[in-house]
Amino acid sequence: MPSPHPTPKAAPIPPAGSALILLKINGVDHSLSIDPRTSLLDVLREHLSLTGPKKGCNQGACGACTVLVDDQRVLSCLSLAVQLEGRKITTIEGIANGELHPLQAAFIEHDGFQCGYCTPGQICSAIGMFQEFQNGLPSAVTGDVAAAAIEFSDAEIKERMSGNLCRCGAYVGICEAIHSAFDREVGK
Ligand code: FES
Ligand code: FES
Repeated sequence: MPSPHPTPKAAPIPPAGSALILLKINGVDHSLSIDPRTSLLDVLREHLSLTGPKKGCNQGACGACTVLVDDQRVLSCLSLAVQLEGRKITTIEGIANGELHPLQAAFIEHDGFQCGYCTPGQICSAIGMFQEFQNGLPSAVTGDVAAAAIEFSDAEIKERMSGNLCRCGAYVGICEAIHSAFDREVGK
């Protein structure tokens, strides 16, 4: 006969060697028990079903996994999730604010994608790049690094976005979309 007083369930014990972490992603706190060797990309995709960031090469060569950490672009395949507690993590799922981000709208308007696999990384990277312009950070093709404002040129965009590959070759549309979305804000 079953006991009228069932034994209370013990709190789940994390597997040996796992780490308990709290990540803030797109404004939402997530508490996770993970292998400390897990990349941010695998946490996003495999643990939280945030499949916007894509796994292309998983070794830092393609940019498909780009997300923003404290508004700076990072490759999530090369970032350990345990190092990011307390940081603001933004994926493509957190870019729109009720309506499409101007860059998302511009990608549609200017045919900035074909299969779309690289697009989440391209958009996160472009938003991070725009912040770099606003902070006055030069690139390898900046002529006058002491200039008050860096010219928002095609050469600058191509250089700064060169870590994001597009296997469909939608580069012309991507460049046009970035220009269209950000031209006015950088004071061209
Ligand atoms: S998947 Fe991260 S750079 Fe390719
Ligand atoms: S649109 Fe297909 S990889 Fe870029």
